[in-house]
Amino acid sequence: MSDIATPGTTADEHGHDSGDLELPNGRPAPAPLPHEPRRADVDPKAARRAERQVSTMFLLASLLVIAFIVAYIAIDKNVVIALPVIGTMSASNLALGLTFGLAVFLIGAGAIHWAKKLMPDVEVVQERHVLESSPADREEAISVFDAGAQESGFGSRKIIRRTLITALALFPLPLVIILRDLWVTPTDSPSPNELLSETIWTKGERIVTDGSYRPIRPEDIPVGGLVNVVPASLEKVEEVEGTLNARAKAASILVRMTPAEIRSQQGGSAEEPWDVHGILAFSKICTHVGCPISLYQQRTHQLLCPCHQSTFDLADSAKVVFGPAARRMPQLPITVDAEGYLVARSDFQEHVGPSFWEQGSS
Ligand code: FES
Repeated sequence: MSDIATPGTTADEHGHDSGDLELPNGRPAPAPLPHEPRRADVDPKAARRAERQVSTMFLLASLLVIAFIVAYIAIDKNVVIALPVIGTMSASNLALGLTFGLAVFLIGAGAIHWAKKLMPDVEVVQERHVLESSPADREEAISVFDAGAQESGFGSRKIIRRTLITALALFPLPLVIILRDLWVTPTDSPSPNELLSETIWTKGERIVTDGSYRPIRPEDIPVGGLVNVVPASLEKVEEVEGTLNARAKAASILVRMTPAEIRSQQGGSAEEPWDVHGILAFSKICTHVGCPISLYQQRTHQLLCPCHQSTFDLADSAKVVFGPAARRMPQLPITVDAEGYLVARSDFQEHVGPSFWEQGSS
């Protein structure tokens, strides 16, 4: 790269100004530190070693992109693995994240290593003045750029250039490959409609607090209160299946109002009401696009989804009173067991979660 010297100054062979630069306050600028050549600048062996390191990183990035594609095709999306500290997670997601993340990292690390070890190590000083460059300056800039491109070795270091081009050419493939999910419908797995039609709530299932799995008695919930709850069996189910599906579908809320405030419910009779002394249970998953909800306004009995402001009146069968949701929040029928703890009477009687899955369902 050609050195650029400030007008009125000269540059030595390393590109250092010989002086005369001024700071905006009129004081002389401090002299630059003496230039220290890098090992690769003076030792051809070190330069070749750096070249090998850079190309190895680009090559590994290419292999990781191929591994991403293989993992996407080969690993069953329902396989869940348990990891220390992190817990359970999808094996497919883990493999895709690791391979793609490492490929990005290696391309970035290779480029940085190349720049630090092999590209010209020249300090350049350029004075800032009028923003628009003159034609002569532009021509000079182009010639500097061309010289820089030559000196960077992009043309002469073939192995780096080829491995970089290979890595960059393969890099967009994962983005294209995963688009396949937009038009391929899995035939051997249940449809979203089927998946959302049942949860792990069953008759007699204890209702426990989310997180601490503590069973709940009616007297634990004050009027106006809201508790996030899950089925007691979720703890065991998660150990076997992971946290992905069961929790997402079964997550619920309990709210309490005075029985006189309840205007309607989604089911039940005088003998078998779906509430317990004004305690009502609803799915926690918004019927719009599935955000978890627990913003409850005690005075109006309205449940507000923070994502797109759908609002449901829990005192009136959880009907939609505002927002884009097209369907009420499903109610879970509840009662108390022989020991006085809240339990489910059955599973939800309607699909939980986003309503759009119902479209085109069987
Ligand atoms: S997800 Fe609840 S309003 Fe959109």
